[in-house]
Amino acid sequence: MGVLRTALLMGIFLWVSLLANGLNLWPMPASVGYGSGILYLSNNFQLRTEGSKYSDDSRILSDAFLRMVDLVRVAHVIDGIVPSSGVLDGLHVRIFSEDDKLNFGTDESYKLSIPASGKETYAQIEAQTVYGALHALETFSQLCYFNFTSKIIELHSAPWKIIDQPRFPYRGLMIDTSRHYLPLAAIKKVIDTMSYVKLNVLHWHIVDEDSFPLEMPSYPNLWNGAYSYSERYTTADALEIVLYAQRRGINVLAEIDVPGHARSWGLGYPSLWPSFDCREPLDVSNEFTFQVLDGILSDFSKVFKFKFVHLGGDEVNTSCWTATPHIKNWLKKKGLNESDAYRYFVLRAQKIASSHGYEFINWEETFNDFGKQLNPKTVVHNWLGRGVAEKVVDAGLRCIVSNQDKWYLDHLDSTWESFYLNEPLENISKPEQQKLVLGGEVCMWGETVDASDIEQTIWPRAAAAAERLWTPTWKLATDPKLVAPRLAHFRCLLNKRGVAAAPLFAPGRGTPPFTGSCIQQ
Ligand SMILES: *[C@@H]1O[C@H](CO)[C@@H](O)[C@H](O)[C@H]1NC(C)=O
Ligand SMILES: *[C@@H]1O[C@H](CO)[C@@H](O)[C@H](O)[C@H]1NC(C)=O
Ligand SMILES: *[C@@H]1O[C@H](CO)[C@@H](O)[C@H](O)[C@H]1NC(C)=O
Ligand SMILES: *[C@@H]1O[C@H](CO)[C@@H](O)[C@H](O)[C@H]1NC(C)=O
Repeated sequence: MGVLRTALLMGIFLWVSLLANGLNLWPMPASVGYGSGILYLSNNFQLRTEGSKYSDDSRILSDAFLRMVDLVRVAHVIDGIVPSSGVLDGLHVRIFSEDDKLNFGTDESYKLSIPASGKETYAQIEAQTVYGALHALETFSQLCYFNFTSKIIELHSAPWKIIDQPRFPYRGLMIDTSRHYLPLAAIKKVIDTMSYVKLNVLHWHIVDEDSFPLEMPSYPNLWNGAYSYSERYTTADALEIVLYAQRRGINVLAEIDVPGHARSWGLGYPSLWPSFDCREPLDVSNEFTFQVLDGILSDFSKVFKFKFVHLGGDEVNTSCWTATPHIKNWLKKKGLNESDAYRYFVLRAQKIASSHGYEFINWEETFNDFGKQLNPKTVVHNWLGRGVAEKVVDAGLRCIVSNQDKWYLDHLDSTWESFYLNEPLENISKPEQQKLVLGGEVCMWGETVDASDIEQTIWPRAAAAAERLWTPTWKLATDPKLVAPRLAHFRCLLNKRGVAAAPLFAPGRGTPPFTGSCIQQ
């Protein structure tokens, strides 16, 4: 009984403190000022864009606005009567750039001002690009509450003045459609939720040794490596994912993981295997291997317009090369040992990617094994451990941080706290070296996720990392307990929006540990 009462009291305390404190934003903006007024959202909430250079012919802004209004209203029936004063009639959005191309480095900053009650009736958003404005819409949506007495949407703590921009330009989430196929609808829901936490890169680990689900017009047998007839993506499906993501401010980084993670390629073209008995890595001695690579990257360049492509390069076990007579002879003729051949493969793949207009990202083994010979434009993707970014930027190369001990979502025992605390710039203090850390990425390897459980495995832990990547360092909590109520509130908001985000007190994708309020789980 005593325990129950304590839990109940704690619940009431949390409830009151959350209501009193309007700052339930996730991720926390760079600068937030607010007052104590209350505004009521008009039933006919409007978007205005006078003063914008941006035309919105593509309807990126107006569609995002409609989605935002739906999200604000999704949890309850809004059937109360809006008072005649203190009403917020809409948002006035001014965007200063006409350009709606999204890529690495696109300006994502915004200003959001919400008036005190009784003054102007429109909130103001200013942004350089439409993508900054989308972030402002998301922030705005998180300020809105349903009032159970009046049964309308209210906005507390007005006036608001929020000035915001991301800490890192690269804020990624990786999905893996080789270990399990993910239907388009599942990928789109992941993208939607990424936009709620202001992540901006969907790293699509499309193919691997297990399956090859994507149509490649240049080499039409490659998707014979799919698990089944229906577990595949057409080129048009891939383009749909890219456009869907782009309209939400999210870039798609496509990956082919060569030469080590490519066994499935040989189901369509067996000569890519060293031999039938030894199927991985791709046959380095065969010119056809590089023709296929060229075909794939040519096909990619028509669909994936992000500045970077990911060329993998991790976990290359070269024993099939030395164990296969024709490759062994080729190595001998070329005067290469197996590690030279690995380097030769990676550097040649990079050249092919360049020829299709891409800059490239490789997993960290390429740096660990032959960093000095790596093209200096290479972005090194850390995963094995901590302290790698430090070495990479010391060598003058760019880095993305995904150390597996903290930022691998498939590690089900990693808690949201460890996602929150992982600091990409740890031990990197020189400003010019800090700039070389483009950001970080949480990775959802697909061995134990498919459409049935991917959401609760990703969320809310990826949201914890998203704040680390968005919010200025001085605003990040050194003790995660301080942000737990705010993250719990956000997790419940995700649930209200139809996202199956798991409880905070269950590492990985656990179930609620006990009965009680969402914000205590
Ligand atoms: C809801 O609205 C009522 C009536 O307008 C007001 O008295 C009350 O304070 C509001 N409740 C909250 C939690 O804001
Ligand atoms: C490398 O591959 C060979 C042959 O497939 C296998 O026997 C060996 O165990 C692998 N080595 C490692 C370190 O995985
Ligand atoms: C491969 O050859 C290079 C010289 O080309 C040498 O530096 C390296 O140690 C050799 N690696 C192995 C694993 O034998
Ligand atoms: C940073 O440096 C400290 C002291 O040398 C070390 O203990 C820690 O592991 C380093 N952190 C990373 C991420 O390498």
